[in-house]
Amino acid sequence: MKFFIDTANLEQIKEAQDLGILDGVTTNPSLMAKEGISGAEAIKQHYKIICEIVDGDISAEVLSTTYEEMIKEGEELAAIHPNIVVKIPMIKDGVKALKYFSEKGIKTNCTLIFSAGQALLAAKAGATYVSPFLGRLDDISTDGLNLIEEIRTIYNNYMYDTEILAASIRSPMHIINCAKIGADVITSPLPSILGLLKHPLTDLGLAQFVADAKKLG
Ligand code: G3P
Repeated sequence: MKFFIDTANLEQIKEAQDLGILDGVTTNPSLMAKEGISGAEAIKQHYKIICEIVDGDISAEVLSTTYEEMIKEGEELAAIHPNIVVKIPMIKDGVKALKYFSEKGIKTNCTLIFSAGQALLAAKAGATYVSPFLGRLDDISTDGLNLIEEIRTIYNNYMYDTEILAASIRSPMHIINCAKIGADVITSPLPSILGLLKHPLTDLGLAQFVADAKKLG
């Protein structure tokens, strides 16, 4: 399973990269705004910096919502760096844009996926990744993991190449459950990734080993 980090924060991206387990980065307009990035040139520059830190797929989301504008914007984003993946919303014009980019050999990530039908359409249109939003479904008392399972079944049935990129991750348990189901990728905030490290018996065991190591001279 690939690990992407879901942030535009450069310090956190560097920290995950230094850990040696990072395969890519996802961003969205809200995450960019959180970092105080604004203006087309500043956004492009920020993506360039991320691409220099991480050698993997970097999702850059279009800000427009019409087919023509998404094509123009997506082509500009794709020109920033060969690792840029154009992130497109799951709307009618978005499906058309996915098809366009797929035919041009430009990687895409179809975002805001909340149903199996949407994931099926995105795969038909040739999306490289689909991003089902696990946590936001859980937030409204709907089982987000069930959606990941449904998409896994459908993609397996027809051997779609589209990769399931589980997004809106809120906890280490989300990551573990996605791995059990067979999501191809998770994109997660840094704390949930680091949460995978933690076990009290590891801490206790290490403290004992360190104490005993001193006795060995
Ligand atoms: O990047 C898309 C997704 O991961 C957003 O997560 O936490 O805003 O629901 P969240």
